[in-house]
Amino acid sequence: VPRMSVAIDGPAGAGKSTVARELARRLGFLYIDTGAMYRAITLKALRRGLNLTDEESLKALANESRIELTTDPDRLTRVFLDGEDVTQAIREPEVSRHVSLVAGLPGVREVMVRRQRELARCENVVMDGRDVGTVVLPDAQVKIFLTASPEVRARRRQLDLQAQGHHVPLDSLIQEITERDRQDSCRSVAPLMPAPDAWVIDSSHLNAEQVIEMIAARVLGRL
Ligand code: C5P
Repeated sequence: VPRMSVAIDGPAGAGKSTVARELARRLGFLYIDTGAMYRAITLKALRRGLNLTDEESLKALANESRIELTTDPDRLTRVFLDGEDVTQAIREPEVSRHVSLVAGLPGVREVMVRRQRELARCENVVMDGRDVGTVVLPDAQVKIFLTASPEVRARRRQLDLQAQGHHVPLDSLIQEITERDRQDSCRSVAPLMPAPDAWVIDSSHLNAEQVIEMIAARVLGRL
């Protein structure tokens, strides 16, 4: 049976991870959250007090770091950095605020992209991120660009945070999301954009289940 890759890219808060994780579970594919990898490196750099624009030392840091992603049967994705469970820590606002800076360094991307390709080499994967369809897995059989309006994405993020006990005003979330979109779309290396052969899905008026079914139908049609 030929190996199959599903690439899911899109802006922050479009629902990529929810969709990608559940899709992977239904298909029996490995789920890889590439954003979590950039977050883990950012966390480590912040903890060490490194200058986040120093490409040389950030690249070295990426090279010497062990990042493992696991998805357990109850669909919780855990992230380990050098053996430490950093699942919660990488979602802290401090990391979210700085991750685009770190992910914008070509040296860091080179290391991460190489690892992401290795993960997809021997397994069927659903991989989500910003540049999976364009850079990491340009030969992926199914490419999705999942998006939604900034207001809808901010509202979803607000509900997520609320569930974790954080109350953040909608305005500041819209601002944060718009700023991260700008940084991710305007950077020179691997900017956020749909691959020419990507299927663009606007989930503003779709729920996760509807999006999962649309993508699953396409994947099954390809198998
Ligand atoms: O997906 P998530 O929001 O956790 O990603 C965090 C950040 O990591 C993004 O805003 C982006 O700057 C960066 N990223 C990236 N390339 C990827 C995945 C994430 O540059 N493939």
